[in-house]
Amino acid sequence: MASKNLLLLFFSLLFLLHLRSSAGQTVVKGGYWFRASEFPVSDINSTLFTHLFCAFADLDSQTYQVTISSANAVPFKNFTKTVQIKNPSLKTLLSIGGGSSNPATFASMANQSTSRKAFIDSSIKLARANGFSGLDLDWEYPGTSSEMANMGTLFDEWRVAVAAESRNSSLPPLLLTAAVNYAPRVNSVSYPTTSIGRSLDWVNVMAYDYYAPSYPRSRSATGAHAALYDPSSQVSTSFGISSWNQTGLSSKKLVLGLPFYGYAWQLVNPQNHGLYAPANGPVGSGDGSMGYNQIKDFIVTNSAVSVYNATIVADYCYAGSTWIGFDDSQTIVTKVSYAKQKGLLGYFAWHVGVDNNWVLSKNG
Ligand SMILES: *[C@@H]1O[C@H](CO)[C@@H](O)[C@H](O)[C@H]1NC(C)=O
Ligand SMILES: *[C@@H]1O[C@H](CO)[C@@H](O)[C@H](O)[C@H]1NC(C)=O
Ligand SMILES: *[C@@H]1O[C@H](CO)[C@@H](O)[C@H](O)[C@H]1NC(C)=O
Ligand SMILES: *[C@@H]1O[C@H](CO)[C@@H](O)[C@H](O)[C@H]1NC(C)=O
Ligand SMILES: *[C@@H]1O[C@H](CO)[C@@H](O)[C@H](O)[C@H]1NC(C)=O
Ligand SMILES: *[C@@H]1O[C@H](CO)[C@@H](O)[C@H](O)[C@H]1NC(C)=O
Repeated sequence: MASKNLLLLFFSLLFLLHLRSSAGQTVVKGGYWFRASEFPVSDINSTLFTHLFCAFADLDSQTYQVTISSANAVPFKNFTKTVQIKNPSLKTLLSIGGGSSNPATFASMANQSTSRKAFIDSSIKLARANGFSGLDLDWEYPGTSSEMANMGTLFDEWRVAVAAESRNSSLPPLLLTAAVNYAPRVNSVSYPTTSIGRSLDWVNVMAYDYYAPSYPRSRSATGAHAALYDPSSQVSTSFGISSWNQTGLSSKKLVLGLPFYGYAWQLVNPQNHGLYAPANGPVGSGDGSMGYNQIKDFIVTNSAVSVYNATIVADYCYAGSTWIGFDDSQTIVTKVSYAKQKGLLGYFAWHVGVDNNWVLSKNG
């Protein structure tokens, strides 16, 4: 009982502290730098961002410690000081996991207090040793309700540890964020929104990948993979954001994802080139994804026709039998206005290395 009250007192204090800090919180204009893109860190126009996420650190499946691979060691260590040359007030976060990491390793880690502690302590050490001002968890995705509950426990314990480390080091507490699904449910289970609300600074809402030419369910028809609206389904960014809002999680904890990439489908008939046109999976041997810079090159090289659909807020272009769904400037501008109108904390790009001369990043 006593310990329960102490815990309550602790979270009340945390809440008060948080109110104080969020009152001064400015809009987040975030972006991920993805090491695999090989985009040089020194070329990032960091004046366009308030926060940059360095992706990705790894979770060791034996020790449950967060590690930085030897290939990433030098660029990650150098990341913060390099991006702060052009923008000294920029904050950087070390992002852990990502779409190609194994969700089962995260599930096992979050399942036991000793392995959560290994994760938490090593992540804090790694952030400080490499000059980051925060940590971001990209666990894609928890698959059961107990995994979601464990994720919530992890967030609460992470916050306690980060607060203790800050008192101890006299440094500002590390920021804590997580990348989450576009809607507050994934795999039919709900995110731990109470823990998110009290223990994370915000979540990055991955508002994209609704359709892709490599998914069995969407390979045979073109589709807008990140439409803001969809009058005929619940798979859209506005549906996701209003669902997050309905959980009671503050809008000031939501940062909207903007995809700086699209997907190329192979049209069955080049004359039938609209939305939902019959298609034969991805163009090329991969998943059909293309960076915004590649898409702009494709449009110029092939004199592709580009269409902005203001009903759903999405762009597509086509030439020959290639059809590409993506976000062009008008779509990004409209999504940024949407984020502001809904009172969200901000927005972020996945990922900065594929912008085209900073055209999309400048729309914020
Ligand atoms: C970087 O962004 C700033 C602010 O928009 C702009 O003035 C500058 O021209 C940009 N630099 C490059 C190289 O695009
Ligand atoms: C480290 O960053 C500096 C700029 O801060 C840059 O000049 C240097 O090339 C970087 N070194 C490596 C190994 O990335
Ligand atoms: C979580 O722990 C329970 C009991 O401690 C165990 O039965 C279960 O297999 C564990 N799950 C994972 C994903 O490690
Ligand atoms: C506080 O600092 C001491 C000395 O550096 C260290 O041994 C201890 O583990 C730290 N505690 C926390 C919670 O960081
Ligand atoms: C939900 O959205 C409405 C309308 O934008 C807003 O007034 C309300 O504050 C939001 N709820 C939370 C908990 O932020
Ligand atoms: C725009 O999208 C709406 C909704 O899917 C659709 O009805 C309309 O035909 C589309 N317009 C164009 C030009 O593709």
